[in-house]
Amino acid sequence: MTETIPVPSGSVATRIALLSGPEEAQAQTAACTPGLAAGPWTFDAAPGYGPGASLGDTVPAGTPRQGELPAEYREAGAAELDERILRAKAALGSRAVILGHFYQRDEVVRHADFVGDSFQLARAAKIRPEAEAIVFCGVHFMAETADLLSGPDQAVVLPNLAAGCSMADMADADSVAECWEQLTALYGKAPQAGGMRPVIPVTYMNSSAALKAFCGENGGIVCTSSNAASVLEWAFERGQRVLFFPDQHLGRNTAKTMGIPLDAMPMWNPRLPLGGNTAERLQEAKVLLWNGFCSVHKRFTVEQIARARAEHPGVRVIVHPECPMPVVDAADESGSTDYIQKAIAAAPAGSTFAIGTEINMVNRLAAQYPEHTIFCLDPVICPCSTMYRIHPGYLAWVLEGLVAGEVRNRITVPAATAAAARTALERMLAVRP
Ligand code: 13P
Ligand code: SF4
Repeated sequence: MTETIPVPSGSVATRIALLSGPEEAQAQTAACTPGLAAGPWTFDAAPGYGPGASLGDTVPAGTPRQGELPAEYREAGAAELDERILRAKAALGSRAVILGHFYQRDEVVRHADFVGDSFQLARAAKIRPEAEAIVFCGVHFMAETADLLSGPDQAVVLPNLAAGCSMADMADADSVAECWEQLTALYGKAPQAGGMRPVIPVTYMNSSAALKAFCGENGGIVCTSSNAASVLEWAFERGQRVLFFPDQHLGRNTAKTMGIPLDAMPMWNPRLPLGGNTAERLQEAKVLLWNGFCSVHKRFTVEQIARARAEHPGVRVIVHPECPMPVVDAADESGSTDYIQKAIAAAPAGSTFAIGTEINMVNRLAAQYPEHTIFCLDPVICPCSTMYRIHPGYLAWVLEGLVAGEVRNRITVPAATAAAARTALERMLAVRP
């Protein structure tokens, strides 16, 4: 399973660093914000997601903040950090396993023992029970999931606590509980004909452990972008409707492919009574969509697809299902990050791909498959703000902490929510993909 992925010479971080050099003016147009060139520790003390696609999103109160990274890590160059990470990894041996999401920087991914999408990483959290620490190079909800699925004595470590997810933060436990109260007042709680529940809550993996626990307690389940259709089928075998949160786009795109009409998918706005709907509309609903979204995937447009087709006749356009529905409809295919990776790996040499997902992954695929032409639909470099907060400096800091016997940035789901959250996750793992 260990595969060392080389850092392509044109990694996103390298390109951003070049753009902030003498051609600074160019950086204003080539990257979505010049702040990307700064070390992520520049933003540790400030509230916010930091530079990148989620820069303008609202950060909820109580979002974890990273303390200051010691100067020796902030000031170390790329080669020194690389060497320190390798040395710490060698010293730790099988005591630590490093998991990395596809959207991580190349400089981090190259040190991962396992790289995958959120579903694969959830499974990977179970496969090294002998490791004392699981160092999760991804975002907060993924680290929580790893904590839920790993052994009780294993410590899950998130190298930078500011690596949250702005989409996950768009649904909080109080707003979902309030929504549930209104829905149960409207639909009732008792199972109906055939034992069908009135509503089944389905949470996208990109959500807090508290929301996974809410689903576990209320007959619901978790899904990821790679199994959303199977999970919705599971839910419709048990209930009349689904409340899907937080990503409206994944919910809409998936339900649409299952033949559910758009007018049976009202949106739920948590700031409005009945989510901004009439009681009649809610009675007709099959899938209630929370109004969350991913700021990375919201950047992709139908116009970008039209331009790619005009400039590259025969191009195959694949987008992630977190993209808005018109974009998914205009693409040739949509699928999870793992789907995208496999589609490219299986294509005949000389294929051309325009991809609608996070730039670090697209850039890496372009370097890994030089026999194809692979480019990102969005011409502007705009990584996921929070994935990008995991810099090799933080990875070196947590690994060297482990070598010294100190667990830094441990993520622990409180016992009060863990059991129910695990129930919802285990239901998902039991559904065929
Ligand atoms: P995958 O489930 O395809 O990994 O995508 C999840 C995601 O958005 C990571 O943010
Ligand atoms: Fe969240 Fe979007 Fe970043 Fe994924 S890509 S972690 S959904 S903000």
